[in-house]
Amino acid sequence: MLKPVELTLEELGDLAEVIPGDEPELKVSIPRIPISELDMERTIIPVCEPALQGNETRYVMDCLNTNWISSAGKYINLFEQSFSRKVGCGHGIACVSGTAALHLIMAALGLGPGDEVIIPTHTMIATAYAVSYTGARPVLVDSERRTWNMDLGQIEAKVTPRTKAICVVHTYGHPVDMDVVCKIARRHNLYVVEDAAEAHGALYKGRPCGSLGDAAAFSFYANKIITTGEGGMVTSNNLELAETVRTLRDHAFSKERHFWHKYIGYSFRLTNMQAAVGLAQTEQMDKFVSWRRENAALYTSLLQDVPGLTTPAEEPWAENVYWMYGVLVEDQFGISRDELRLRLAARGIETRTFFIPMHLQPIYYADYKGERYPVAEDLCRRGLYLPSASSLTRREIERVVEAVKACRS
Ligand SMILES: Cc1ncc(COP(=O)(O)O)c(C=O)c1O
Repeated sequence: MLKPVELTLEELGDLAEVIPGDEPELKVSIPRIPISELDMERTIIPVCEPALQGNETRYVMDCLNTNWISSAGKYINLFEQSFSRKVGCGHGIACVSGTAALHLIMAALGLGPGDEVIIPTHTMIATAYAVSYTGARPVLVDSERRTWNMDLGQIEAKVTPRTKAICVVHTYGHPVDMDVVCKIARRHNLYVVEDAAEAHGALYKGRPCGSLGDAAAFSFYANKIITTGEGGMVTSNNLELAETVRTLRDHAFSKERHFWHKYIGYSFRLTNMQAAVGLAQTEQMDKFVSWRRENAALYTSLLQDVPGLTTPAEEPWAENVYWMYGVLVEDQFGISRDELRLRLAARGIETRTFFIPMHLQPIYYADYKGERYPVAEDLCRRGLYLPSASSLTRREIERVVEAVKACRS
């Protein structure tokens, strides 16, 4: 029977202070007899929520009315084509999740035991999982302070004869400096994979994230910039790689005979109904991205004079899509990140902490014991994201900012 890997805070020693406290309980306190408009406003502001006001219902009803509810059907092709074109790619392969998209890429690259893939330690666990699923080993790199992305200056020191790929993550929607990554990859003959799960519509030097390496993985989980409820897509401009991913996604049925398998395949197909939602969402993607950028600009302008709060960066060559509007709570702020979360939750405002680095995860801790990644550790200790949905109103953002300021005093 499978047993969980336990890791106590005592075992972590001084690193225990990096690990976020328990999730605060969200509270709303609307007085029974509201006496002002402000009382009526005391509803929960979630950290993220989808916006489904386009053609979603119409397209899904079309699937139901025509009986095309599984993974065959026109919406799969339409979604794959429209989304992959939007991110500058000739090929898109829709699948069940962003994690599955990463897994399919790693499998299609032929990774296996003995291989290594360089990833940032500051990421969502799926980046590491996808490497581990193949039997290869994730090799970790620290983050840099400005964009919170992988510190590209530290990659080459981690390259060994076993390294097969670099998997970058466009963290929270800020693009990685891909020219630098591709140059390193060319020098060492490595594949470049983009984990673009959080970066729909983000631009690097005017080019879309998701089109800048050998292949990219997007997530369409409900908190992503566009959603299919659950879902993902591999995008690529490499026909051979794309065809292998397409084959692997569907049990690796071969073209010449249906029940004839030349690879270990996966059952990772998206349904036509999910793709119907995805198509409707893709139609609105530009709007969602510009709302997110406007919301971020408003947050930054309202928060910039708050001492001890670091707001997200945008490099001159980048268009950040602010999947999540993250801030760092510095010592100067006066209370800790965890205390700020508690106080915001008591005002009905939901937040999330930044990622817990891979080297501090119970499941990976023994593999990286003794390795330290000070920037990622500091991001984990100080980072939180504020409500970030595309559909946030100006008043909601103002309410969050007022609450952040009130929590300090
Ligand atoms: C960076 C990153 N990679 C991969 C994933 C996995 O995507 P999914 O939840 O669709 O499997 C996520 C999801 O949040 C993510 O943030």
